[in-house]
Amino acid sequence: MRFDIITTLPRLLDSPFGDSILKRAIQKQRVEVHVHDLRQYATDKHRTTDDYAFGGGAGMVMLIEPIDRCIQKLKSERPYDDVIYMSPDGELFNQRMANELSLRQNLILLCGHYKGVDERVREHLITKEISIGDYVLSGGELAAAVVADAVIRLLPGVLSDETSALTDSFQDNLLAPPVYTRPANYCGWPVPDILLSGHQAKIEAWRHEKAVERTRQRRPGLLDGVKTD
Ligand code: ADE
Repeated sequence: MRFDIITTLPRLLDSPFGDSILKRAIQKQRVEVHVHDLRQYATDKHRTTDDYAFGGGAGMVMLIEPIDRCIQKLKSERPYDDVIYMSPDGELFNQRMANELSLRQNLILLCGHYKGVDERVREHLITKEISIGDYVLSGGELAAAVVADAVIRLLPGVLSDETSALTDSFQDNLLAPPVYTRPANYCGWPVPDILLSGHQAKIEAWRHEKAVERTRQRRPGLLDGVKTD
C-alpha cells in the first residue's frame, strides 16, 4: 500500500512516520509513505499556495493550481483509489473506514489549512473527505497522520502479533476488555483470579463479558446489532 500526503508543512509529518510501528512498517516495506511539499508545485517566485477569498472575509484560501499540479503529477505515475481531503466537514472517521481503506492500493491525502481549499478542488479533484472528529485542527496534517496510522497498523505483517489488531477496541463493535500484567497483586490491588486460572475458555468468556459491560457503560450506541450473550 502507498500513501501520498500533500501538505504545505511537510515537517509536521516527520515524527509520526519516523518512530515505532509506522517507521518499522515503512522499513519492512509493508507500506510506502511519500510526503509532498505543496510549495514545490507553486509557479510564482514566492511559491504562493494561498490567497484572499473572492468576496472578502477573514482567512486565506488554498489555491487550486498547485494542488491540481501535484495531484495530476501523482496520477500520471500510478492510479489512485481515492483522493482524500482531510477536513472537519468530511465523513467521520471510524474503525470501519480504516478497515476499508486498508484494502486500497494507493491513496492521496490532501491536508488543508487556513479557511480551507478553493471549492473547485473539492468539486473536481477530491473523491472523499474525512474528518477525524467534531473539532477544528490548525491543519489536516495531524488528521492525515491519524488516518494513516489507523490504516497502516491493519496491514499484514505490520504488527508482530497479527491477531492483536483483530482484538482491538471497535473491531467487533466492542471496546477492549481490561488487561493486567505483573505483579499479580500490587499494594493490595489484585488481578482478577480468573486471569491467573490458566483456564483459557473461561478467560475468553470473562473477557467478552467485560468488553460488553464496558461498552454498555461507556458507548452503548456501539452495541446495536451486537450479540451480547
Ligand atoms: N482539518 C482541520 N480539522 C480537521 C478535522 N477535525 N479532521 C480532519 N481534518 C481536519
